[in-house]
Amino acid sequence: MLTIFRRLSGKMGSKINYPSADRNKTFILEVMQKYINPAESVKLLEVSSGTGQQAAFFATKFPKMTIQTSEVDLELFESIKAYASEVPNKNVKDPVKIDASQGPWSLVDAPYDYILNVNMFHVSPWNCSVGFFKYGSQVLKPGGLIFTYGALMIDGVITPQSNVDFDRSIRQRDPNCGLRDLRDLEKVAKENGIVLKQLYDLPANNKCCVWEKTA
Ligand SMILES: C[S@@+](CC[C@H](N)C(=O)[O-])C[C@H]1O[C@@H](n2cnc3c(N)ncnc32)[C@H](O)[C@@H]1O
Repeated sequence: MLTIFRRLSGKMGSKINYPSADRNKTFILEVMQKYINPAESVKLLEVSSGTGQQAAFFATKFPKMTIQTSEVDLELFESIKAYASEVPNKNVKDPVKIDASQGPWSLVDAPYDYILNVNMFHVSPWNCSVGFFKYGSQVLKPGGLIFTYGALMIDGVITPQSNVDFDRSIRQRDPNCGLRDLRDLEKVAKENGIVLKQLYDLPANNKCCVWEKTA
């Protein structure tokens, strides 16, 4: 799966560019702005930061927020650091290795006010979604929020046809991956004291879920 993203990506020095990360960052920001006060000093953990493009973008929009980046793929660390170095407030921390399926996550700044995850559920095996909620809940403050973004199945149905095709192409490459059903995610979240607070329809048939740790 990583190979596919690399093929679609561009490289400028250490900075890798995923076109999709630039396309969707503004829509995700609009959701985050409904919940996060930019005047507050808060801590956000990003799981699967990818190239680091989005962490740098959100850090400029929330200059008082400290963003802890993370990746399972160590080859992306240099790109994340390169984008972070350009952020005026220097509020993006160097990446740490997090494999969503393995825990507990060892993070010196935990607990966090927020966790962000963009486009990981469908490109990783199901145990990554399970681990994301299990280990994420352990490092999130009570009342803390999780923002997740990506294409989803809902009640066993994928719409529109372009997402059906997308799901099929992902599963052809790796049968362990594919669009996750929101209801399965809700069940796992609930087992870890997290509920779905709000669901947003975003452009290109993607969803942004806002989750809350209630327990
Ligand atoms: C489609 S990319 C999205 C990257 C970035 N969030 C973005 O939107 O540009 C999927 C990301 O999930 C990460 N990933 C895959 N398996 C993972 C795992 N087990 N734990 C954490 N991240 C994982 C990959 O390394 C990759 O960066």
